[in-house]
Amino acid sequence: MARPIMLAEIHQQPAALEKTLHGALKAAERLKRAIERRRPRLVVLAARGTSDNAALFGRYLLEISTGVPVSLAAPSIFTLYQAQVDLKDALMVAISQSGESTDTNLVLERARELGALTVGITNSPASTLARIPHHRFLVRAGKERSVAATKTYTGQLMALYLLAWALGAPIELDDLKRLPETAAAALELEPEIAERAKGYRYMRETVVVGRGLNYANAYEFALKLMETCYVVAERFSSADFLHGPIAMVETAFPVFLFCPAGPTWPSLKGMLEKLNQLGADTLTITDGSNREAARLAKRAVVLPGKLTVRGPLPAEAYTPIPYIVPAQLFSACLALEKGLNPDQPRALRKVTQTL
Ligand code: F6R
Repeated sequence: MARPIMLAEIHQQPAALEKTLHGALKAAERLKRAIERRRPRLVVLAARGTSDNAALFGRYLLEISTGVPVSLAAPSIFTLYQAQVDLKDALMVAISQSGESTDTNLVLERARELGALTVGITNSPASTLARIPHHRFLVRAGKERSVAATKTYTGQLMALYLLAWALGAPIELDDLKRLPETAAAALELEPEIAERAKGYRYMRETVVVGRGLNYANAYEFALKLMETCYVVAERFSSADFLHGPIAMVETAFPVFLFCPAGPTWPSLKGMLEKLNQLGADTLTITDGSNREAARLAKRAVVLPGKLTVRGPLPAEAYTPIPYIVPAQLFSACLALEKGLNPDQPRALRKVTQTL
């Protein structure tokens, strides 16, 4: 099979991240000024699919770094129930790579009518979503041709760092400027990951575990495995997994875990120890600052180098972009191993319209 577009687009991420950061900074500065005049008491994030996974990351980042409460919108509240929600002091943020997800756009439109300050994050400057909000942050990933979203996801994460910065998060722009390099370093792992994927050729089901800022990556990795490899992939936080689902795990059951050093590691470490007792087949995604995560697992993908940061947020706050890269590579490589074309998953199109 020819090299899929998905792999080419995964490799475009360092350049796309750099362009997004550079291009969206002005919009972030404008929003920062607007917020200094009128600070929202609540942020609501509206999105679907991969964009919704980016929103989940945004929820953790914004609450941790700004203290503003964040909720994830349930679009049917607006689209099917036509509810009158009080959004007067809210900031509504819609995220969509295509800008044409019908319900996401409807939520944004209603929120504007209901008095919210509105922001749109999209990769499509000419889309419907780009026209609705007060402020728009453009992801500059270039056209994404593979149905499986990759470069738009990391671009959306970059836009969410800038949104948090605009809301007063102690994010150093220098730390964001280093993210493209960390993504480029992760891309060097492709040959190793292609080799590892061979061992999972017959995998039909799995669980992906992440916590805190990498919980969104657990959702995103599972989504990539479902749509490109047709693997039944459940996703859990390490806390929720213990509240029942762990009973599924038997000898050789495959579990993937995002394991950065920092606040989430004690919980992930306990999970790994438990999974080892159960004989699970564990693979951790980690970096050089958490050697234990590589030692305790059956297999590990270790990102090259150690993440260092200048600002006050812990290095863990900057792991989600480089950490999703090996997961994207793994999904594309496993699809090829299974003889599937990851660019054209069955029953899917690039733009999905729902109400
Ligand atoms: C998955 C994927 C979809 C889209 C979803 C939302 O790889 O691409 O889940 O993310 O259909 O689409 P947008 O972001 O265009 O609203």
